[in-house]
Amino acid sequence: MTTLINGNFKSKDILSLDQFSPKDIEKVLKLSRKMKVIATKARPSKILEGNIVALIFYEPSSRTFGSFSASVKQLGGQTVEIINPKEFSSVNKGESFEDTIRVFESYCDAIVLRHPQIGTAKAASEAAFFVPIINAGDGAGDHPTQTLQDLLTIYEKFGKLDNLTGVMAGDVLNSRTIHSLLQGLSIFKNNTIYLLSSNKLRLAKNDLAKYKKTDIKIIEITKPDDIPSNANFWYWNRVQKERFASTEEYEKAKKIFTITPEFLKKYGNKNMILMDPLPRIGTIDPQIDSDPRAVYLRSQIRNGMYIRMALISLILGKDKKIK
Ligand code: CP
Repeated sequence: MTTLINGNFKSKDILSLDQFSPKDIEKVLKLSRKMKVIATKARPSKILEGNIVALIFYEPSSRTFGSFSASVKQLGGQTVEIINPKEFSSVNKGESFEDTIRVFESYCDAIVLRHPQIGTAKAASEAAFFVPIINAGDGAGDHPTQTLQDLLTIYEKFGKLDNLTGVMAGDVLNSRTIHSLLQGLSIFKNNTIYLLSSNKLRLAKNDLAKYKKTDIKIIEITKPDDIPSNANFWYWNRVQKERFASTEEYEKAKKIFTITPEFLKKYGNKNMILMDPLPRIGTIDPQIDSDPRAVYLRSQIRNGMYIRMALISLILGKDKKIK
């Protein structure tokens, strides 16, 4: 059982959305709006002056790494960055994962960790003696900070996180961003999510069973004709090549429904938004990028930095300094 936030983020590990209540999520989103002002007005900030955050990424990343690094710097803090520890740290000489965490926690106030294996952020939180761990994606498991940015993006458009209808498509089995967003939306009342995937890439049975006990309604579909006409958002996600045992297995599974202008015209509606955690591989035709409903390269990306600014301030107990 991970520690619940319960209104108090200070020194807490952030491993999964199941630690959050609606109020905790609202607190992050509210603070994110103040962070947007700091970031977009280039207002100099010293909120994290004297703080160092370590970014340890065992798996490639553009957005999560880039936005965490920018978030700390936006607030006047500094980062220690280790990309690919297997090559560029003493992990290469055989140092254990636990010792690696304990070494880097000696140099910083918080560790942001990405790792290809489910449960590694939790293992790091058990290894660390002194500093909180933020899960920046653990295999096909969780990606809580991505979900906070997705929830902020949805909230900005609809002003609520309940009574929504969404479609999540692509690699539903392996996508940690889908898993975490389902978890995030299940905390709020009366959301309905259509999961569009091939039979091979359906949500795992135990996850489906888990959501049956919550307030979210999940409807699995395998063809675009079953997409509801009243969806508030579409959340498209690439097939996660790195989770397949072989290239052959990936090649067999990789075909998904790409959003093209024709597809959007046939199945979409005027008021929806189009989201993708990115990178987009076969998910959305670039012709869609100029459509005002396409938020993936605009607010969805930027919101990632604002919510990470907010979250780090809360965890380091610096949020009171923000006016
Ligand atoms: N959305 C996301 O996690 O992207 P990166 O893998 O580039 O961080």
